[in-house]
Amino acid sequence: MRLIETEGLTKVYQREGHWFPSANDAMPAVDRVSLHVDKGETLGLVGESGSGKSTLARLLLGLETATEGRLLFGGEDVTRWGFKRLRTIRGRMQMVFQNSYSSFDPLFTVERIVGEPLSNYRGMLARERRCVVLESLDMVGLGAAYAERYPHELSGGQLQRVNIARALVLQPELLICDEPFSSLDFKLRRQMLVLLEELKIHLGLSYLYITHDLSSVSRFCDRVAVMYGGQIVETLPAARIAEDALHPYTRALLDAVPVQDPRLRRSKTGRPFGDPALPQGEGVTQGCRFCSRCPAAMPVCTTVEPALVRKRPFHEAACHLYANQIVKE
Ligand SMILES: Nc1ncnc2c1ncn2[C@@H]1O[C@H](COP(=O)(O)OP(=O)(O)O)[C@@H](O)[C@H]1O
Ligand SMILES: [Mg+2]
Repeated sequence: MRLIETEGLTKVYQREGHWFPSANDAMPAVDRVSLHVDKGETLGLVGESGSGKSTLARLLLGLETATEGRLLFGGEDVTRWGFKRLRTIRGRMQMVFQNSYSSFDPLFTVERIVGEPLSNYRGMLARERRCVVLESLDMVGLGAAYAERYPHELSGGQLQRVNIARALVLQPELLICDEPFSSLDFKLRRQMLVLLEELKIHLGLSYLYITHDLSSVSRFCDRVAVMYGGQIVETLPAARIAEDALHPYTRALLDAVPVQDPRLRRSKTGRPFGDPALPQGEGVTQGCRFCSRCPAAMPVCTTVEPALVRKRPFHEAACHLYANQIVKE
């Protein structure tokens, strides 16, 4: 069952501070994205910095308004819902942000931080709130003693647990985790992913797990969507990403995975990955966004934008290399 679904979702930011408008000014940060997360599913969203992942997350949460396209939550079209009406469903999806410390008020105790959504959305009083907060802290492995602490007294891992506890108090169905553990070291990141996995089983959660690093994706996610230049360029079962990835951009991301997970490094191309400093999509108004960095670019790639098409039962890719090819199992 679809929990959340987008159809051609697009967000264009007008660039400010330019005297002369250029074609780039209307470059969408999110460009015709059609994606879904099923109930109980963990969808990984990967792509380098600037590819539009956070903008897509904000669109899903209704924190930004789409320029075009549709957003459905639980089968209902919520695209044109106003801010007030969206509040009624916002409790059903919550966000776990990357940097906990800066997102917390340093003068608030953990109890107040975690309980804040309860006052904002449910109008709960302090005594009722405490009970829910302690329960939520317990779920993320923090004892009641942590309720009285302040953010500066906590480690990075504990702060991230508080962040998750705060996201859980409204009993959401979907957690959107935007690079939640990128400031943590490898071991801590593993522990946090195990925690998310446990919470998923106990609470029946679904996740959109946004990351720029692929090493956690194959273990933690059911399915992965790869984003480049505001577009989804490939979606496939996460466990098969190393073996099955078709898009040259996905393969390049796999090549960039640190040695910690050598399984993911096996590249089919073995070719160098364009110029990483080149702003993606810059100057590209037609053809494939990835064309200028692609080791396999063909003349058609500069003129015709490849559509995202099905290659295997649960595998879609947007690349001319596979234009007329349905991959055999
Ligand atoms: N509020 C904003 N105003 C203007 N441009 C923005 C805004 N937020 C994001 N962008 C632009 O949208 C693109 C995608 O950004 P973002 O969604 O943050 O990517 P990611 O999360 O993948 O790093 C970038 O080019 C960024 O500069
Ligand atoms: Mg981001």
